[in-house]
Amino acid sequence: MTAILHLSDLHYSEDYHRTETMYSPLMAQMTAPLRQLSWVLEKTDRKYDAVLLSGDICEYGTEEEYRKVHELLSERFGCPVIVTAGNHDNLKELIAGFGLSTVNGELFEVHQVNDVRIICLNSGHPEYNDGFISQASCDLLEEQLKTEVPKTIIMTHHHLLADQFSLPCAAYPDRLKEIIERSSVMAIVTGHTHHFYQGSFAGKRYLTCGSLSFVVDRDKTGKLLFYQSPSALEYLIDEDLSYRILDPEKEARSIGYLPIGSD
Ligand SMILES: [Fe+2]
Ligand SMILES: [Fe+2]
Repeated sequence: MTAILHLSDLHYSEDYHRTETMYSPLMAQMTAPLRQLSWVLEKTDRKYDAVLLSGDICEYGTEEEYRKVHELLSERFGCPVIVTAGNHDNLKELIAGFGLSTVNGELFEVHQVNDVRIICLNSGHPEYNDGFISQASCDLLEEQLKTEVPKTIIMTHHHLLADQFSLPCAAYPDRLKEIIERSSVMAIVTGHTHHFYQGSFAGKRYLTCGSLSFVVDRDKTGKLLFYQSPSALEYLIDEDLSYRILDPEKEARSIGYLPIGSD
């Protein structure tokens, strides 16, 4: 059996005021993402074979910050830390800090963890906040899936289902669904919404991981409440994939309102 820990949306920063946005004052008040991780880990004492990090790793990431997150997580878990980029990530710095590889300029990685293949499909581009999966990425995925590996997981940052969340899902070529549909992919896992979700995409199991930073939801008055409620997913993969949500609810904490959204 292979045990995998899925973490997402750390939005790590050593200075949340480095660039002032409407989020900065709220983010500066939240419990540090790596501290939130330690709360999540109180729910498990399992030894993992790999850790997945599905994007928005740093808020305004420098190469040094990415390197630090990589080193801390690698040391903490003693296993490979497999990443994909989010809309908040700086690609050049992420690639350098985590030592990632590109294929023809596309961020695309394939990892083997025991008998499980993890394919990292890039949807994160700072210029496309809602996410974008390119034809070139689909080409690479199609080529990779020509090799049958029954236990294959595709990880991308943005959610892929339009009805899943209030924000638009990633834009992707129609052929992405066809490529996945005719493959033996076991699951597609994402982040970005900061809310757990389970469903199906192209006939395959589909899971979205919560966040280790903050969550935004409308309250009863329609205002956008910014709060923290750390959450992660544990996957146990045998003949099938089973999952467990790691969410220490006692740590949910309201921080404040975003200065928009009471429409
Ligand atoms: Fe995020
Ligand atoms: Fe995101």
